[in-house]
Amino acid sequence: MEKFIINGGRKLRGEVEISGAKNAALAIIPAVMLCDEPCVLENVPAINDVSISLQILRELGADVKFIDRTTISIDPRMIQDMPVPYELARKMRASYYFLATLLSRFKHARVPMPGGCDLGDRPMDQHLKCFRELSAKCSIENGIVDARADFLFGTQIYFDKVSVGATINAMLAAVKAEGLTILENAAKEPHIVDLANFLNSMGADIMGAGTDVIKIKGVNRLHGAEYAIIPDQIEAGTFMIAVAATKGDALIKNVIPKHLEPITSKLRKIGVVVMEYDDSVRVIGQETYERINVKTMPHPGFPTDMQPQLAALLVLARGTSIINEGIFDNRFRYADELRRMGADISVDGKVAVIEGVDHLTGAPVKATDLRAGAALIIAGLSTRGTTEIEDIQHIERGYDNLDGKLRAMGADIVKRTVPESIRQAI
Ligand code: UD1
Repeated sequence: MEKFIINGGRKLRGEVEISGAKNAALAIIPAVMLCDEPCVLENVPAINDVSISLQILRELGADVKFIDRTTISIDPRMIQDMPVPYELARKMRASYYFLATLLSRFKHARVPMPGGCDLGDRPMDQHLKCFRELSAKCSIENGIVDARADFLFGTQIYFDKVSVGATINAMLAAVKAEGLTILENAAKEPHIVDLANFLNSMGADIMGAGTDVIKIKGVNRLHGAEYAIIPDQIEAGTFMIAVAATKGDALIKNVIPKHLEPITSKLRKIGVVVMEYDDSVRVIGQETYERINVKTMPHPGFPTDMQPQLAALLVLARGTSIINEGIFDNRFRYADELRRMGADISVDGKVAVIEGVDHLTGAPVKATDLRAGAALIIAGLSTRGTTEIEDIQHIERGYDNLDGKLRAMGADIVKRTVPESIRQAI
């Protein structure tokens, strides 16, 4: 068990290089098993969820080699028809993508129900609906999703709810199905476009990714590919807010500014100066910020994965801000932790009301999930005094060397191991 210790109040300066997108990598890594040739993936983020995904591939029989820290070669030829191990599947949400890729490859998949951040109810009905509409039989027994089919046939699928995971699972299952699949009311996130681009580079025939109608003409065979994953929109947004909250001035490099627009436009409304370049943004923090109302929505709306980090900035803005969480039922568990630091937040269901305060004070807090942890880091960096953040394993699931990157920008943040004796007393 480790924790971050932050001595806050230092302005972030200089520059930071954004890593590859977590949610794109977690879709693309399982997709490699749809072909029978080695693939090389570049710009893969060094995060724990990626390690788990690669571990699952290895357990299934793939040969995974690191060419360098962010470049991986995966040879899927020896992959076997076997269940995904429970201990790995339950560690992250994206393990559900192995359902589609095993189903496509072997016409049979057994994957334990996934884990991931506890954000309230996270059903899988839309995932199973798409497999069933592609002619698979699905059941859940003893915590394991079992999907099987004689053949997968293309069809028209209308999602009752916009779901990133179900859209990706439908694309993965349909790419080698017989005939045409049309996905309607599909999610439009940048990582959905990135997955489509990867699959098309392997010989798939997918059109419309990035709109709410995606057309997939099934192909018999996919071939190996070399592919560079897009930069992480959420990691970039987290650094943008961290720079703003510390009143710093820094260049965020290796980004696609278009993907950041939902974040950039809200930050500008609050009063943060954001300058866009071809593949970087400069953020210039200000002494004071204005209140704002925000509702999280599917892309191109404001991303739910940036909601806690934005709250960590709004707790110091002038006036009353309202955050309406439009995606998940329970994404304000960090509010209790920010209150320990002096924030004035009240939560009623999916709405949080934030009264801006002059300053926060350092405190011992817990990362309740991945983005909640990022919010606490931002709060700790912008606060004079010491903040100790426990349960940082949530943060390390999705951020590549976050503390190292922050230190290089002038932050005083260190990672400490909690001694066994104290661990037992907690
Ligand atoms: C993905 C992202 C996560 C992000 C979320 C929303 C990955 C690995 N994770 O999660 O970081 O916060 O998108 O942008 O990419 N729902 C159903 N039935 C379903 C599926 C979803 O009701 O079958 C609901 C969910 O409970 C939620 C909403 O739909 O309320 C959106 O969920 P979804 O887009 O599926 O999120 P994830 O794929 O789990």
